[in-house]
Amino acid sequence: KTDIAGNSSLPIPPLLEDKNPDPDKAEFHITAQNATKEFISGVETETMGYNGNYLGPVIRVRNGEDVSVQVENNLEDEITTIHWHGLEVDGDADGGPHSGIQPGESWTPEFTIDQPAATLWYHPHPEKNTGRQVYKGLAGLFFIEDEVSDSLDIPKDYGVNDVPLIIQDKQFNENGSFQYELGMHDVMNGLQGGTMLVNGAVDPYLEVPKGMMRLRLLNGSNASVYELHFSNNQTFYQIASDGGFLENPVEMDELILGPAERAEILVDFSNFKDGDTIQLSNKGSEFMKFVVNGESESNYAIPEQLTTIEKIDPDEAVRTREFVFQGMGPMVNINGKQMDMNRIDEFVDVHETEIWEVSNESGMGMMGGTVHPFHAHGVQFQIIDRDGNPPPLNETGWKDTFIVYPGEKVRAIATFNHSGVFMYHCHILEHEDAGMMGQFKVE
Ligand code: C2O
Ligand code: CU
Repeated sequence: KTDIAGNSSLPIPPLLEDKNPDPDKAEFHITAQNATKEFISGVETETMGYNGNYLGPVIRVRNGEDVSVQVENNLEDEITTIHWHGLEVDGDADGGPHSGIQPGESWTPEFTIDQPAATLWYHPHPEKNTGRQVYKGLAGLFFIEDEVSDSLDIPKDYGVNDVPLIIQDKQFNENGSFQYELGMHDVMNGLQGGTMLVNGAVDPYLEVPKGMMRLRLLNGSNASVYELHFSNNQTFYQIASDGGFLENPVEMDELILGPAERAEILVDFSNFKDGDTIQLSNKGSEFMKFVVNGESESNYAIPEQLTTIEKIDPDEAVRTREFVFQGMGPMVNINGKQMDMNRIDEFVDVHETEIWEVSNESGMGMMGGTVHPFHAHGVQFQIIDRDGNPPPLNETGWKDTFIVYPGEKVRAIATFNHSGVFMYHCHILEHEDAGMMGQFKVE
């Protein structure tokens, strides 16, 4: 479907069918495959997709559910893995670089969902090849629902008033292919800029009624940090961060979203008239348009409270562990070390609470520093402070990925309830692939 300007309507990733009839169990099938897609009219781009030609379906599960996912690698001649970003499961189900799936083979992890409603995501994580595979299109959303999400009076009609927006930037070559030859700038900062995509479409539009919309945003870019706002500077409410609902909605007119971070927001379009167009933008560039059309069938107010989050007491922490982002370009590292699959860098006692103190000394001085988003697998954090100051309100919930600005020190606290080997790394994927990653073992 296209509008007069030739823009396409926003593609909505399908919900993946649960093949298990038992309501307490779920079984999913996912296949990573090579494909082509026409992003720019008239040229075909070589892509990768899950069960399709670009991105993947939404996996939707419930807290408490027993889940198995059969993941097939149909990629030509390359190993892949599938990592459940934000999911709290044991290391052997986490899908990091040790869980490589050979071409033509499959991997079927099983796990029980044990965390609150949230918008998580999944993507490949093969050794030194994560950036390229994600860039080609391998990524999808993973929703958890629970009693809290059931009971809240917020939009929940998937694809209608509860809409995912996977935002990315891509550079295309003239022949339509993705430009993934890393130049010096890309080695330094990760691959940034170019054409903005939402759910795989260039500048799409979404028709919205005069009412409340819930948007689930994922920054699925390899390296770009976005400052998102609406063209009319209209305010909106953030209701969830990476790991689930915030306690209270946070009113804002700009949302900063680093690579791999998620945010759910409520936007009220009820004060517009038919035909009004509002853009979702990042600084100078536009991601997509909302075209107001028609009355809304339901009436929502912004809830006062969304959930309760038990604050982890820093006094419960058995230790503070330090992580320092250092180096630039091919030298990027954490604590002076680059990723080595055969080396465990940190040992954590299972069920213990720790404070992780992440500082960014990378490129300071010469370059004015580089932003690095920190992510650890298998756990959700609460941010204690940024340079000693309380975090902004939209970072007071669960976080699995947080930006660490040049020169900054962020302290976060978590309880490590799942055992196994996990990764911590910078989520600028070119930095991760260059070795800005380490391994921790929980036992
Ligand atoms: Cu989203 Cu180690 O990854
Ligand atoms: Cu980085």
